[in-house]
Amino acid sequence: MLFEWALSLVNPAPLRLRRLGYVRQSGRLHARSRRCRAAWAPHLTRARGVIIAAAEATARRGSVVVLGSGLLDDVPLIALADLFDRVSLVDAVHPWPARLTARRHRNVALVTAEISAGLGDPGLAEVCASADLIVSANLLSQLPIVPIEAHEARGREAPPQLGTQIVETHLAALDRLASGTARVCLITDIVQRVEDRAGRVTDSLDLMFGVALPPPVQVWDWEIAPFGEIGRRHRLIHQIHAYPDWRAARA
Ligand SMILES: C[S@@+](CC[C@H](N)C(=O)[O-])C[C@H]1O[C@@H](n2cnc3c(N)ncnc32)[C@H](O)[C@@H]1O
Repeated sequence: MLFEWALSLVNPAPLRLRRLGYVRQSGRLHARSRRCRAAWAPHLTRARGVIIAAAEATARRGSVVVLGSGLLDDVPLIALADLFDRVSLVDAVHPWPARLTARRHRNVALVTAEISAGLGDPGLAEVCASADLIVSANLLSQLPIVPIEAHEARGREAPPQLGTQIVETHLAALDRLASGTARVCLITDIVQRVEDRAGRVTDSLDLMFGVALPPPVQVWDWEIAPFGEIGRRHRLIHQIHAYPDWRAARA
């Protein structure tokens, strides 16, 4: 808790995004990623592998955009910075470790943007329109969290379709980008399972809010909260779907 609180003080972000809760969300993720480092490692390795394969399969390598770059845990930044002329990292919050890593590469730029309503922000739209590869990196299931929590913080229930709308908006933006010349790579968790120590699933949650995705090219489990993280008797597992070529998956 102390680490999360300290991160929310030091991580830079526009006041509007700070007030909305994005810095707090980033701190929560950062703290959990460090506590659960070993449990997360296989997932991060798989995700980086998918992104490298998508990058190597991209013929023109002018620029790559990573949506939801966050801590860069699942982003193979060195490989991307070697393969492409320009790398744009897009997130509502770029935590200090990611900022320091990005500074080591002259061709890496940070774009701070809140994208739950799409990729229409003029600066961002331009960056995406000229990209040869766009990666949505374990972002999609996170997009509804802060908007829904903002309603709950005011003691109101979020509109029932809010999560669905946000997921659909992101996928529609990826569809538009994939209909041009860019390759689009999507990696997202789609369902959360609560498991007990006997391996029984005691609960589950649809992280896509009812939106169906096409059959994935790769599927794996991410042990997001091992035993002890949320309680001694239960752990949380997220199932990941990976699409190295979103246009082909949609065809
Ligand atoms: C699970 S993390 C993704 C992991 C990240 N690729 C990494 O390697 O650390 C989700 C990221 O989405 C970002 N995010 C969540 N909602 C967002 C929004 N509305 N706009 C922009 N970024 C958002 C968070 O700040 C966080 O960095």
